[in-house]
Amino acid sequence: MKRLLIVHHTPSPNVQAMFEAVRSGAGADEIEGVDVVTRPALGATAVDVLEADGYLLGSPVNLGYLSGALKHFFDQVYYPCLEETVRRPFGAYLHAGSDAAGALRALESITTGLKWRAVRPPVVVTGEPSRADLEACWELGAVTAAELAAL
Ligand SMILES: Cc1cc2nc3c(=O)[nH]c(=O)nc-3n(C[C@H](O)[C@H](O)[C@H](O)COP(=O)(O)O)c2cc1C
Repeated sequence: MKRLLIVHHTPSPNVQAMFEAVRSGAGADEIEGVDVVTRPALGATAVDVLEADGYLLGSPVNLGYLSGALKHFFDQVYYPCLEETVRRPFGAYLHAGSDAAGALRALESITTGLKWRAVRPPVVVTGEPSRADLEACWELGAVTAAELAAL
């Protein structure tokens, strides 16, 4: 059995809708052999990361960067996981008021440092997620889980 860890900071209904769509895709009936585990970013630990085979990361954009909660998560797990999680697959979704550029740069920089492998580009949504946005979130979850199932 593979384990897919969703680490998320979810402070509003719009971000919650994205989280639920991602989780629903990750747990799609067609994908066998993958356990989905969710952790709020402020409660996720290095052990959670080490015990998982791949990751989904979700955050709003705050002050031009990832949320402090997701940054705190990475600050805690970076060195304990640096050598153990190389090449593990990940996906990410961000919700912004208007501009996600700084958060995307940060995510790229952190995950490049960890040598994680992006399954597909991050899903970025501004404002209320449309049906297409939520479908993109669902697909992100499903594609990432399918990647783990094939490992
Ligand atoms: C303290 C704070 C800082 C924020 N900074 C940014 C920012 O720099 N860029 C941006 O696009 N949105 C920013 N936002 C908006 C959040 O990204 C947005 O509130 C969050 O994604 C949730 O979306 P919602 O309020 O539409 O549900 C900020 C929100 C807060 C509370």
